[in-house]
Amino acid sequence: MSMTTSSVKAQSPRFYRSVPPARAVPSLIDDVRKGLLASPRSLPPKYFYDDKGSRLFDAICDTEEYYPTRTEDALLKRSAKDIIASLQPAHVVELGSGTSRKTRRLLDACEEQGCHATYWPFDVCESMVQGTAEALMDEYTWLRVQGLVGDYHAGFEHFPGFDGCSLFVFLGGTIGNLDHEQAVAFLSELRRSMGDGDALLMGADRVKDSGVLHAAYNDSEGLTAAFNLNVLRVLNREIDADFELDAFEHKAIFNREDSRIEMHLVSKQEQTVSLNALDETIAFGKGESILTEISRKFTPDSLDALLAEAGFRIQRHYEPDDGFFSLVLARPNG
Ligand code: SAH
Ligand code: AVI
Repeated sequence: MSMTTSSVKAQSPRFYRSVPPARAVPSLIDDVRKGLLASPRSLPPKYFYDDKGSRLFDAICDTEEYYPTRTEDALLKRSAKDIIASLQPAHVVELGSGTSRKTRRLLDACEEQGCHATYWPFDVCESMVQGTAEALMDEYTWLRVQGLVGDYHAGFEHFPGFDGCSLFVFLGGTIGNLDHEQAVAFLSELRRSMGDGDALLMGADRVKDSGVLHAAYNDSEGLTAAFNLNVLRVLNREIDADFELDAFEHKAIFNREDSRIEMHLVSKQEQTVSLNALDETIAFGKGESILTEISRKFTPDSLDALLAEAGFRIQRHYEPDDGFFSLVLARPNG
């Protein structure tokens, strides 16, 4: 599905290119058939991120309750200098880059150290990549930004060749939006695309008090609710569906047994929704829900085990005193 939006101005030069998928990935229609027409109902999280959804996510990052962004930013502020000094990367390649707001810590360190790396933001949201590339080139006059648009589940074979040391960056705790099998497959594939001298800098959210977690996914301004409900707007637009957003409510709970936040959209009433592009209807019962996102929370051991299973070893592990979040610098193993 194209996430092209009107905010990519026709007259602006394009600062990105599309990365062709190395293998077929399911289309929105495939995902809807597989997830939404099934029981229990679910949708992959990538469909949140049209232009509006990406902006809502960015607004969530500024809420008092959503601690991951400021926590990870503080870790980056503390560690960026050492990371850049030790690697001197020729390329910084960021997966799921969004607005690249925290990546500026790494770019600041590059600037300070005269390390003129090329920055490659990669994201499924085309308008974000374009807007971010424009903003960064204004802020960092020395920086080359080459945006990449695509799906990180479609393989990395068609990425550009990166000569010299590459620092791959995967921030925000987005690894937690993949289940264990998806995370191992994604990281293993990334590992295979990396050279032995490359490195991965990854953020992961940690298991903690459920009150803190609950608040982070149920902010008082209702931005997370709006972000969650926005996926129904995406379906209305992209597959000619007729979801009434008011007829669903946001629910996010911490499942301690599986160590993950589960985000749902719950039908407030019995209702029938048409998916015209598929020539299908869905009959929702009152209280029936769609699982729209999981957000897994790690312990140092589970994070270590995940990376080891995917062929990495952790070289440095940065964490705050409260242990709320982990930032790890990992190297290819063997
Ligand atoms: N890294 C940023 C943004 C995190 S939000 C931060 O830490 O704040 C997750 C980002 O991943 C969004 O920008 C979203 O568009 C992108 N994304 C989600 N699924 C994706 C996929 N399958 N392929 C590429 N990007 C994806
Ligand atoms: C992008 N990702 C790590 C966020 C998270 O916390 O799982 C997405 C998000 N969902 C609700 N709030 C933020």
